[in-house]
Amino acid sequence: MARKIEKIVLAYSGGLDTSVILKWLQETYGCEVVTFTADLGQGDELEPARAKAAMFGVKDIRIVDLREEFVRDFVFPMLRSNALYEGQYLLGSSISRPLIAKHLVAIAREAGADAVAHGATGKGNDQIRLELAVNALAPSIEVIAPWRQWNIRSRMQLLEYAGKHRIPVPSDKRGEAPFSIDANLLHTSTEGKVLENPAELAPDHIYRRTVDPIDAPDAPEIVTIGFENGDPVSLDGQIMTPAALLTQLNELGGRHGIGRLDLVENRCIGMKSRGVYETPGGTILLTAHRGIESITLDRAAMHLKDEIMPRYAELIYNGLWFAPERDMLQALIDRSQAFVSGEVTMRLYKGSASVISRTSPCSLYSADLVTFEESSIAYDHLDAEGFIRLKGLRLRNWAVRNGR
Ligand code: ARG
Repeated sequence: MARKIEKIVLAYSGGLDTSVILKWLQETYGCEVVTFTADLGQGDELEPARAKAAMFGVKDIRIVDLREEFVRDFVFPMLRSNALYEGQYLLGSSISRPLIAKHLVAIAREAGADAVAHGATGKGNDQIRLELAVNALAPSIEVIAPWRQWNIRSRMQLLEYAGKHRIPVPSDKRGEAPFSIDANLLHTSTEGKVLENPAELAPDHIYRRTVDPIDAPDAPEIVTIGFENGDPVSLDGQIMTPAALLTQLNELGGRHGIGRLDLVENRCIGMKSRGVYETPGGTILLTAHRGIESITLDRAAMHLKDEIMPRYAELIYNGLWFAPERDMLQALIDRSQAFVSGEVTMRLYKGSASVISRTSPCSLYSADLVTFEESSIAYDHLDAEGFIRLKGLRLRNWAVRNGR
């Protein structure tokens, strides 16, 4: 410990791990610990976290509803890019950490704390995301990561510590944890234990917010999503707040078995890991957003976006939300969305969300131009002939050289 820590703000879920951490911080640092519990739409009761923190003698207990901020300022800006990590992962955990870090820092400043602490383990991505965000926002604030510092090395040792310090252990937490879950309004992620062998099928009971597509209703459901400047704003004509809209789409998507993903991904730290994701609303929105972009974006603008997308997704995955390069790419992405407005109708059916129609007041689609019938717009078929002749010049030259 380089300097004496006076006050720590802990990202506190109220669960067993962070309760042990809370106790450990109080014992190890002998200073005041402030708890911060965020509602990101994970679906857990948050009031029990207050009672639990109070039991540990915490005087400054903060429980904050971040659902709207999460969707409006983090999820939607990311969706504008159609971000997918390694072609498939919608980044549900990755995008929540910078928001948590932002509030840890804000509370630390307000409460006059000189350190923040988190319960992310030493092998995962989340420690990197939280800490890089804190570095970028508040370079003078120290970060304490108990999982890297203490000598608790296993679940059993954690339970032992809890027992020794009279920390209540819920009966379903007595044995080994079946897996690690991270949930918010965008997704639920499940990793570890039963999933660690990628050759092994994921058991059905790990899914928590989507039905198996096989069991989804036999009748499709049709919904219309309205977009304004690249962001979804309405459902079936009804204007909704970002969090309300995503909540509703999660409901619909979950019922139709949309957005399940069983993935082996490359972690930032170097190892491969297998996880199961459920992103019902996000999956519908990503497809719908591509649908509205398909009629409103210029071709080169769209292709440029698609080129930078993997870079942008990787930045978010690697914890660089608050880095200058993410900000620069965001400016480019946001600039592209000025005319991405209109409506997309989607069919939800047995695990799939498909675009079935799209309209926009700013559409670039010209039926007159593309029609097989005679069109009124000046399009000279001979232009196509010249275009192909020029495009083919180098190919003919190359083919002759190759003796064809
Ligand atoms: N692998 C995912 C990511 O890096 C999820 C991490 C958090 N999930 C968890 N179950 N602890 O974004």
